[in-house]
Amino acid sequence: MVDLTTTYLGLNLKNPLVASPSPLSEKVENVKRMEEAGISAVVMYSLFEEQITHESLELDYYLTRGTESFAEALTYFPDVGKYSLTPDVYIETLRKTKQAVNIPVIGSLNGVSTGGWIEYARKIQEAGADALELNLYFLPTDLNLTSSQLEDNYVKLVSDIHAKVNIPLAVKLGPYFTALPNFSQRLVEAGAKGLVLFNRFYQPDLDLEALEVVPNLVLSNSEELRLPLRWIAILYGKVNADFALTSGVHTAEDAIKAVMAGANVAMSTSAILKHGINAIHQILNGMEAWMTEHEYESVRQMRGSMSQGAVAEPAAFERANYMKVLSSFNTQSI
Ligand SMILES: Cc1cc2nc3c(=O)[nH]c(=O)nc-3n(C[C@H](O)[C@H](O)[C@H](O)COP(=O)(O)O)c2cc1C
Repeated sequence: MVDLTTTYLGLNLKNPLVASPSPLSEKVENVKRMEEAGISAVVMYSLFEEQITHESLELDYYLTRGTESFAEALTYFPDVGKYSLTPDVYIETLRKTKQAVNIPVIGSLNGVSTGGWIEYARKIQEAGADALELNLYFLPTDLNLTSSQLEDNYVKLVSDIHAKVNIPLAVKLGPYFTALPNFSQRLVEAGAKGLVLFNRFYQPDLDLEALEVVPNLVLSNSEELRLPLRWIAILYGKVNADFALTSGVHTAEDAIKAVMAGANVAMSTSAILKHGINAIHQILNGMEAWMTEHEYESVRQMRGSMSQGAVAEPAAFERANYMKVLSSFNTQSI
């Protein structure tokens, strides 16, 4: 029997496979089914800043910067009235979910500005959440907004939310930061116990017939694992945080790679949405089989074993690999 246990944000987990936020957690029944399939923890779908303070001055400030007009920008945001899941329903769903399952339940807040809405961090804690994940998603389009200002805003938000709660805080980030190691370090100093890498940005498409910009949600595939894999491998052992890998975890091998790079947990959404809740079972069985075959006794033993600090060729994670990769492309068959 291999030992799949791991820790994340101070929580003891029976294995490293965690369900990341998705519409599945809108229903308590689905979370119960994921628990039965073996998932070790669930991050609830997000409660969005826009849902809480649609007209707050803070949000207004962020929306008007870099957009042509405030009114126009608002049309791209969900009509709060149409949201079936209001902030109160969110808190209630979280409370019921926590009562219904034995695995840890992590709340999720999604926003960018510091303001009254962050009171919900405390409400999420009061509803029984074991931890809180903060999803920071802001697309800077303003020529006058510098990367330093943007990072300062994020750090302040993390610090403000950290001051509101006693439960551990994880921060979910996108990959587009110029100096990720330094920024990660600052987030940890501001109170983040965990870093969740990376958020997937949904790129809008152009509808050529209607001449409209259309939202386009495409589920991930295993190829997308490589970006968070590389960065967790680089940050592991340097930044004193727990790491969750999200984006591209579809198979047992993907989850094992995540752990070997240095992740405490591998998070999955697309695989479960594509293949159903049974995908959880398959990934976990596959992990056990792989570890047995390769004579690994525990997840702890594997963790970080292929991080940048542990591999024989650390430069493979850096620029040094760049020329090698390009020159390895074989043009013979063209
Ligand atoms: C339909 C759908 C809804 C999602 N909702 C949220 C959300 O509310 N909050 C959040 O932080 N991430 C959300 N995500 C992102 C996932 O949690 C996950 O980080 C992302 O899909 C990458 O992981 P994957 O490759 O396993 O899908 C959502 C993803 C999908 C596909």
